[in-house]
Amino acid sequence: MTWIDIDRTSGIPLYRQIYEQFRKKILQGEMQCGEQLPSTRELASYLQVSRNIIVEAYEQLLAEGFIEGRHGSGTYVAEGIYLERLDHEWVIPCNPAADSEKEHGDIINFRHGIPALDLFPRRLWGQLAKQIYNDAADATFGYGQPEGCHELRVVLARYLLKTRGVICDPEQLIITTGATQALSLIAKLLHTPGSEVIVEDPITHEIHTIFSLPGTTLQPVPVDQYGLRTDLLPINKKAGFVYVTPSHQFPLGGVLPIQRRVQLIQYARSAGSYIVEDDYDSEFRYESPPISSLQGLDPDRVIYIGTFSKNLLPALRMGYIILPHSLIERGRSLKWLTDLHTPSLEQLILARFIDEGHLDRHIAKMKKVYRRRRDCLIRSLTQYFADQVTIHGHSTGLHLVAEFSGLVFTSAMLQRIEQAGVKVYPVEIHAIQKDKQQNRIIMGYGNVTEEEIAEGVRRLRLVITR
Ligand SMILES: Cc1ncc(COP(=O)(O)O)c(C=O)c1O
Repeated sequence: MTWIDIDRTSGIPLYRQIYEQFRKKILQGEMQCGEQLPSTRELASYLQVSRNIIVEAYEQLLAEGFIEGRHGSGTYVAEGIYLERLDHEWVIPCNPAADSEKEHGDIINFRHGIPALDLFPRRLWGQLAKQIYNDAADATFGYGQPEGCHELRVVLARYLLKTRGVICDPEQLIITTGATQALSLIAKLLHTPGSEVIVEDPITHEIHTIFSLPGTTLQPVPVDQYGLRTDLLPINKKAGFVYVTPSHQFPLGGVLPIQRRVQLIQYARSAGSYIVEDDYDSEFRYESPPISSLQGLDPDRVIYIGTFSKNLLPALRMGYIILPHSLIERGRSLKWLTDLHTPSLEQLILARFIDEGHLDRHIAKMKKVYRRRRDCLIRSLTQYFADQVTIHGHSTGLHLVAEFSGLVFTSAMLQRIEQAGVKVYPVEIHAIQKDKQQNRIIMGYGNVTEEEIAEGVRRLRLVITR
């Protein structure tokens, strides 16, 4: 059966989703002239939707000439429609993760990467914002520098040295609109025609898309419970950069041991490649202090990327890159060309927040909250699933991975789970080499209370029976 996927929560009518997918398959030659489409009855039963929805989608395809009906014998792809994809065509998928605002009803959402939104110190932030808006020089209200406010870069450089062993001076910092923009700038900065990029597999699929610039080949390297398999780094490759999440591999959660860190740096040195270290949530390490950064081992080779989305709020859209000196000038002009600079007043509020010690206190407080939530999740999973479940990557961060022996998280299964009032996220969508992660789900615990966690796992149990 033709593989069609529907998203019942997307707000796009189902017939439209089905129509779009057939249209794309036909245009791209995945479905070819004369190929038969499934019958409306068959597809309706496969997707568990009413037959009218399929009829409506087919009518639209028919009206636009994509398909033709042959009386009595079904529906077929029409002739002459294959449109070769141009090299520079870069398809940007809509973000399937961007669903938190659309949640409705009584769904317990184990979405990963979201901190406790209700525990953000709103009042304090508001007070600092008021001070900054009152005190800041008039010039601050005009255009700023692409690299960001000096005040923030100074306190951040100090803070990162103290907490993460990152070695940099403020000149090397560029404040970005979240880590996402930092990654996008890096991809462009280090892009050359025909360039290769080595990435962990699995890797956040948004980041996979960001790195997939036209003319770039991604070289996936598998990860295990410790992170990147440095012994499998491709030999004789001259990659522009190697992307890693060494403090907490996303999504599987490994923490890269020092031997592999050294191996990775040696590899990058001999290949003349940069290493891009994405340090997105490592402050929340529960059993021991945070692991020092990779950047501290070789500041000229490692480009360090950080974010305030996990330790404060995604809505701040505040992140940063630390560039080796040789890339500073080009990095700044690329940032300038992209959006001139990240909002200055928010940068100043953040600088004061860090400088007055509020960030340290907030992280210390949240670490306790998240540890309790994590423990509650592990307890609940163990209580309901016993040895049917294996838990991975729970030492750090705001999510863990639960592996269920003998299970495959198909879209039908995920739909049933959602119908039971709980949302979990398959690891498989982040995998480049497919079909190896199908029995694993990501469960974020940052923005769910302990009561919700216990209830969510109970609901999961209703669907996942032995
Ligand atoms: C591994 C990883 N890196 C980077 C980011 C981007 O974070 P942001 O753009 O919100 O700073 C995310 C988001 O969840 C992530 O999971």
